[in-house]
Formats: sequence, C-alpha cells, structure tokens
Amino acid sequence: MILIQNIKTLTLDDFAILRMFHVKHFHEYYISDNSFTAYLSQPQYTTYGMFHVKRLIGYAIFLNGGVDADIIYIATSPKFRRYGVASALIARYITDYKISNLFIEVEARNTIALRFYNTNSFEIIGVRRKYINGHDAYLMVKRLAKCCLYTIFYTKILYI
Ligand SMILES: CC(C)(COP(=O)(O)OP(=O)(O)OC[C@H]1O[C@@H](n2cnc3c(N)ncnc32)[C@H](O)[C@@H]1OP(=O)(O)O)[C@@H](O)C(=O)NCCC(=O)NCCS
Repeated sequence: MILIQNIKTLTLDDFAILRMFHVKHFHEYYISDNSFTAYLSQPQYTTYGMFHVKRLIGYAIFLNGGVDADIIYIATSPKFRRYGVASALIARYITDYKISNLFIEVEARNTIALRFYNTNSFEIIGVRRKYINGHDAYLMVKRLAKCCLYTIFYTKILYI
C-alpha cells in the first residue's frame, strides 16, 4: 500500500541512492553530479522520495518559484507504477507549498507521462519545438489558485 507518510524530503545524505535510482529508471535524461548536489542542497529546490520498506521507489524534484513552481524530474520504479506513487509526490508538494500554478515540460512522444499529467489535472498551454532531446515538448500547468479559492468559499458556506 502507498502511504503518504512514506514520503521524505531527500537531502545530500541521499545523493548516492537518488543518483543510482535515476540512472536505473530514468537514464534517458542525464543529470550531472553537480545538478544532483544542487537539487538536494539548495533552497530553491525540493526533492521528495517515496520509500517502500526502506527502498526508494519514486522521486520528484521541484523548482520552488514562490507563487509558481516547476516539476523538474519525476519517476517511479517500474515495479511500483500505477500505485499512485507519482501522484502522491505531487500531492505532497502541493500540501507543503501554497503555490498557484505547477508547471511541467513533457516530451510530446511520452504518451504515458501525458496521460499521467492529464489524470492529475494538468492542461497543455503551449508547445516547445525540438525542446527536449531534440523532440517537441508540451508545456503543461496544474492551476491551483481557483481551487483554493473555491475551497475557502465552500468552507465558509458550510460555516454560515
Ligand atoms: C509517468 C510516471 C512518473 C507515473 O508514475 P506512477 O507512480 O505510475 O503514476 P500514478 O500511479 O500516480 O498514476 C496516476 C494516473 O496516471 C495515469 N497513468 C499513469 N501511468 C499510466 C500508464 N502507463 N498508462 C496509462 N495511464 C497511466 C493513470 O490515469 C493513473 O491512474 P490509475 O492507475 O488509477 O488509472 C511513471 O510512468 C514514470 O516514472 N515514467 C518514466 C519517467 C517519466 O516519463 N517521467 C515523467 C517525465 S515528464
């Protein structure tokens, strides 16, 4: 069972495990050791890992922008896909950071990722030609501001 409590913020202590996981499951996107170090140590980044019996089964790296934020990388171990791991990592970020918009650039040919973002209420707002590894990419956004306002409004109605 995927438990949100099994998500932890990764730090430099997790460098080796994160690097190994990325190379094993997401090798088509090269990340330098310097970038890994930045993602795990600099305050503009947040990196979460989902664990199952002490084993890393998914991770997500976010660029914190204040009102807006970006997903830089997100991946789940093939054995644990379709259990809600990546969705839970995004949900955790949204809970921790009160952002209005969450952006992602997705390769247009990555149909699985497109379905994943679609299920998680991201919408396509632009196309970037030959943008990722020479392939077209979609810029997608998950808008949160309206839904927060709606929640506040709805909660108020309940209390009137
Ligand atoms: C995309 C990825 C991160 C999704 O991770 P995940 O933990 O399996 O995602 P979730 O279980 O939270 O999926 C939520 C929903 O997304 C959709 N989805 C996810 N994987 C899917 C697939 N293979 N086929 C169709 N829909 C899929 C489904 O609607 C799913 O809900 P459901 O299982 O109840 O039908 C994972 O497939 C992955 O690591 N891919 C390789 C790395 C990658 O491409 N990352 C994204 C780059 S932008």
